[in-house]
Amino acid sequence: MEIKVIAGNIAQVEADAIVVNLFEGTEQPGGATTAVDKALDGAIGYLISQGEIKGKLGEVGIVHTLGKLLARIVAVVGLGRREDFDLDKVRRVAGEFCRSLRKSNCHKIATILHGAGGGGIEPEASVEAIVEGSLLGLYSFDRYKKPEYGDIEQMVIVERDESKVPALERGILKGKIMAEATGLARDMVNEPSNCMTPARMAEVAREIADKYNLKFNIFNSKDMEAMGMGALLGVARGSSEPPKLITLSYKGAEHSEKALGFVGKGVTFDSGGISIKPSEGMGEMKEDMAGGAAVMAALSAIAQLKPEINVTAIVPATENLPSGTALKPGDILRAMNGKTIEVVSTDAEGRLILADALSYAVKQDLSPLVDLATLTGACRVALGTRYSGVFTNNQELMDRVLEAAGKAGEKLWQMPMPEEYKEQNKSEIADIKNTGDRYGGAITAALFLSEFVSNTPWVHLDIAGTASSSKESGYTVKGATGAGVRTLVELALSLATKCSEQSEESRKEVI
Ligand code: BES
Ligand code: MN
Ligand code: ZN
Repeated sequence: MEIKVIAGNIAQVEADAIVVNLFEGTEQPGGATTAVDKALDGAIGYLISQGEIKGKLGEVGIVHTLGKLLARIVAVVGLGRREDFDLDKVRRVAGEFCRSLRKSNCHKIATILHGAGGGGIEPEASVEAIVEGSLLGLYSFDRYKKPEYGDIEQMVIVERDESKVPALERGILKGKIMAEATGLARDMVNEPSNCMTPARMAEVAREIADKYNLKFNIFNSKDMEAMGMGALLGVARGSSEPPKLITLSYKGAEHSEKALGFVGKGVTFDSGGISIKPSEGMGEMKEDMAGGAAVMAALSAIAQLKPEINVTAIVPATENLPSGTALKPGDILRAMNGKTIEVVSTDAEGRLILADALSYAVKQDLSPLVDLATLTGACRVALGTRYSGVFTNNQELMDRVLEAAGKAGEKLWQMPMPEEYKEQNKSEIADIKNTGDRYGGAITAALFLSEFVSNTPWVHLDIAGTASSSKESGYTVKGATGAGVRTLVELALSLATKCSEQSEESRKEVI
């Protein structure tokens, strides 16, 4: 979709549809909506008075202009209650009106900025959110099936004040970069596991590296052996797909040796291994590489936004399958940091491969560290499908991550890391075991990971609930969501802004 901004009056724009808005509970439309209403001889006001258009969040009231305007359709999008309004609502309504207009066979649409007047949102932020919401809401994975509807080919953002145009163009660019990166993660996650193998993930990393001039490295089993990655190799042993440890590095701070580290779980299919999962719904486990996809996609956006910071993404990629050579319950593995792990369940494979990937990140001196993983069903049970669980050993870093997620419109909920639950991971025979008791599974998994990050400030995101959606709503569509991508990008931007204004020394304090 081509997106551009023009200065002018929305009522006079030639398009299949023009989009205006309404807060819930408003009797009379205001701003640009008033002008459009006048041109329609009060049709919008009439529909409001009849209770057909209410302004409820995400509602899209379709009014046919029947030749009174150049546009065929006026869409009146509901912004919800004024007091509840925030930036993420802009993303959500953009997703809704775009999908609705696509169904109405519109190819060219024009919209005003939403929330920039009465909503109190900065115009640049509003346009960025419109672009993100539109592109993400229109996303469809159509590699294997023709899409149901035609495309919206062009979206024009119409702003009265010409002096705002340059800022709006910047907003469009950032929104596009964010949405495209999220789309890239969605594409990878939506691919079935027979396509998105560890080797294919490595290829995608190479494509990203080539396109955006990033450094990239692939380690094979032999390299893993040499580095002592017994936990990752243990999981990989059950599959004939060779495992890969992928790294992608962006250098935005030439003067600095330090780099922020992202680590993403890349289990391209999780059958559970010998501790095999029930067959019902097992196909969903092609999504078990969503953390890996997110960190790779985040690097593609960071490379385009060029913040002054170094960032390295690490993805341990493997399948988790049962076979004659597979890891078995009771086996003991030695991770790269020397710790021995008793494998109680081969289905708790995520923490095994992350043990090595995090140890490797620490060895590379990456700091701070953020890992993303579809780690536990328990996290999904605890928080549902909209909130990711977040865990940390460093509250200052956590606050930065929460702030970044707030900007990105991603919902995180901090979970505790109680020392006393560490009991649950104690093994009689090894340094640690890979499952806890029945309850608090997301927490014991996080506590397990904390054993492999040394003293590095670290945040862990459990995206098992949020990596995919069974419902379409706002800018979320069915299937992969691209969870975490935008939060990681915002985090890199925020750490960079802070450090470019400060000395290297004070930056160390911040993170
Ligand atoms: N990949 C799963 C977690 C998961 C579950 C992700 C549902 C997305 C949706 C993970 O590898 C797993 O199997 N975890 C086990 C851990 C248990 C054996 C301690 C789980 O959650 O059941
Ligand atoms: Mn598993
Ligand atoms: Zn898994």
